[in-house]
Amino acid sequence: MNNEDNGSSAVEELLKDDNINEVSKGSQVKKQAINKEYVNKLEEERIFLFKTVKRLEEETNVLRALFNKSHNELEELKKPSLLIADVVSVHGDNAIIKLNNGNKFYSYMNSDTRKNIATGDSVLVDQKSLNIIDKIEVTDSFEVEKYVIVDKPTETWSEVGGLKETINELKEVIEMPLLNPELFEKVGITPPKGVLLYGPPGTGKTLLAKAVANSTHATFIEVVGSELVQKFIGEGAKLVKEMFRLARRKAPAVIFIDEIDSLAARRMETGTSGEREVSRTFMQLLAELDGFESLGNIKVIAATNRIDILDPAIIRPGRLDRLIHVDLPEEEGRLEILKVHTRKMNLKRVKLKEISHQMDDFSGAEIRAVCTEAGYFAIREEREYVKQSDFLDAIEKVRIDEEEDQVHIFG
Ligand SMILES: Nc1ncnc2c1ncn2[C@@H]1O[C@H](COP(=O)(O)OP(=O)(O)O)[C@@H](O)[C@H]1O
Ligand SMILES: [Mg+2]
Repeated sequence: MNNEDNGSSAVEELLKDDNINEVSKGSQVKKQAINKEYVNKLEEERIFLFKTVKRLEEETNVLRALFNKSHNELEELKKPSLLIADVVSVHGDNAIIKLNNGNKFYSYMNSDTRKNIATGDSVLVDQKSLNIIDKIEVTDSFEVEKYVIVDKPTETWSEVGGLKETINELKEVIEMPLLNPELFEKVGITPPKGVLLYGPPGTGKTLLAKAVANSTHATFIEVVGSELVQKFIGEGAKLVKEMFRLARRKAPAVIFIDEIDSLAARRMETGTSGEREVSRTFMQLLAELDGFESLGNIKVIAATNRIDILDPAIIRPGRLDRLIHVDLPEEEGRLEILKVHTRKMNLKRVKLKEISHQMDDFSGAEIRAVCTEAGYFAIREEREYVKQSDFLDAIEKVRIDEEEDQVHIFG
């Protein structure tokens, strides 16, 4: 307010004063409004800037992350790849490893890694130093299950006709060590690692192997030698190795190698690549046999119809050093087998003794075929029971079928 203005009347003064007041009031309001607007603007600006900074910060973070990622990727790309090797044995902070090409190295591993590593594992190995970096689960091991039969057999000893001595021997060599290993430790003997069953086809070798797996609650891992050779060209040795690894995982286990002669035939001098491959597979099998404890919970049963061509390396002491001959059944054995396979059949006035007398030279498999055929003769005549003549007809039929097969093979 202006109090020093003396040239005006009091009214004027007043008016003026009032005017001035009005004016100054108005301008003050105006000023305040402008101020407020200005503050609002600034506030808005501040918020805008704040948001921008935030956004830029976020963008920076994203870009930094991107940069780090590509940087790391680049670094990884520059590093040499790691080798994959198998652990042969562990010695404190070191381990003997074997590379794919067969070379062995004595490698170092740090204490953290060391805790997880055991014989038979696959490991990552630095290319330069050949030190063990880490363990790796090689997915090959699931593959092996596609190629071998893994089973919990249901066949029991009671389904095996005759073969009493063979059964007893299998019980001693396979069943007892798996079920009561402490018995052997106490007495201080080491049971065989496995057995070789040999004899003509159809005499129950596979059946026996399954029955012993069943009686020991063991996993049954079956592989057929001829398939191993034909289907896995170049991979046979690996498959053998994976099979033993699988057995260790699923122990107690019985590994059954049928037709072992196709893997372990006496080596001839020709040395074709196919034969070299077979011998690599065979060498791996020998290495695996040598490599496991005979008191462990894995047993190996091999079978062959051709013991005459078998490479004797497989039956050396410490390997499959127990040979069991499974021969064609005598009359008494045939009767036992006949009893097994007619157990569930509806028979009328059938003299099993007489039938088994008629089946000279028949194997267990042929005796089973006779029972099935006899059942068919009954069904064809719309009978619900099987009689003596059905069996006699069946014997003839099986004999003729056999002879025809022989002609097919040799004719
Ligand atoms: N001793 C036997 N007792 C009962 N059945 C037998 C006997 N031998 C063979 N068989 C029958 O023949 C089938 C084939 O026999 P298998 O064990 O495969 O003979 P191998 O392996 O010696 O060639 C068996 O599944 C079984 O039904
Ligand atoms: Mg068989």
